[in-house]
Amino acid sequence: MLKNKSLISVSDLDKGDIEDIFEKADYMYQNMNNMRQNEPMKLKILSTLFYEPSTRTRLSFESAMERLGGSVISMADSKTSSFSKGETLADTIRIVESYSDIIVIRHPLEGAALLASRFSSKPVINAGDGSGEHPTQTLVDLYTIKKELGDIENKEITIIGDLKYGRTVHSLLLALTRYHVKINLVSPANLKLPDYVYKEIKNKLDVNIIDDIEQSIKQSDVLYITRIQKERFTDKNEYYKLIGSYKITKKEVEKMKENSIIMHPLPRIDEIDVEVDFMKKAKYFKQASYGIPIRMALISMIAGD
Ligand code: CP
Repeated sequence: MLKNKSLISVSDLDKGDIEDIFEKADYMYQNMNNMRQNEPMKLKILSTLFYEPSTRTRLSFESAMERLGGSVISMADSKTSSFSKGETLADTIRIVESYSDIIVIRHPLEGAALLASRFSSKPVINAGDGSGEHPTQTLVDLYTIKKELGDIENKEITIIGDLKYGRTVHSLLLALTRYHVKINLVSPANLKLPDYVYKEIKNKLDVNIIDDIEQSIKQSDVLYITRIQKERFTDKNEYYKLIGSYKITKKEVEKMKENSIIMHPLPRIDEIDVEVDFMKKAKYFKQASYGIPIRMALISMIAGD
């Protein structure tokens, strides 16, 4: 169903698509280290166009393609590309589509991945468009919940941090409308969820905007923490006023219920104390590692033969 299709928003995926990706990701998880010899993506080229910094998304896409026996061409830094000479995104895409079979793009502007898909005859994957969406991170997040808790259905999920600029939060909430879950949202007053996301989810999810983080910590199955997105603030003083608004320490984790987990799309700045990393509820590094099977699954489903 995903073959030759772009993935710009989680709204492009129904629950069946998500489950198909997870089934394929399970296969990739089992065979991650021996897929290269079968070369399912032999002679295929993936391009990564990153106009914003990334560690996990770019490297896991590249690792996934390499593990599938394909090749990668990469623009890891817009400063060293012809963007710095003034080339438009549309013109860059017209070139890169003739150099590769699938394009992964991250860009600071909302809508950039959609625009890229309009100028490309090859599938485009949105790896983050400004404060818009990050659909492949959401697949990683949902897959983590499924693997670590057995199911996504009927879970209580508390999302804490920058709900305004956090694209992983927007995509995650939109995707969770496919499931029966309870959502608690916690943020500083000026970093609340944008109206366009809230309107989309409010009638489909049991959503609660809360101040009592203590109670949510005790009753949630998942604490999903996000950093405050410094790069989105035009006035950096506003950012410095907000850092440290929330911090999960060992003390909070000890109040969480049995079998609950802590997730974070990363990078983490100071919102989770490093001592939490050694506790069994801390799943954020495992979560990042699921990026490989999920992205192997996506690449092969979109660009495989
Ligand atoms: N989670 C995530 O998108 O991480 P990177 O910015 O390192 O790609």
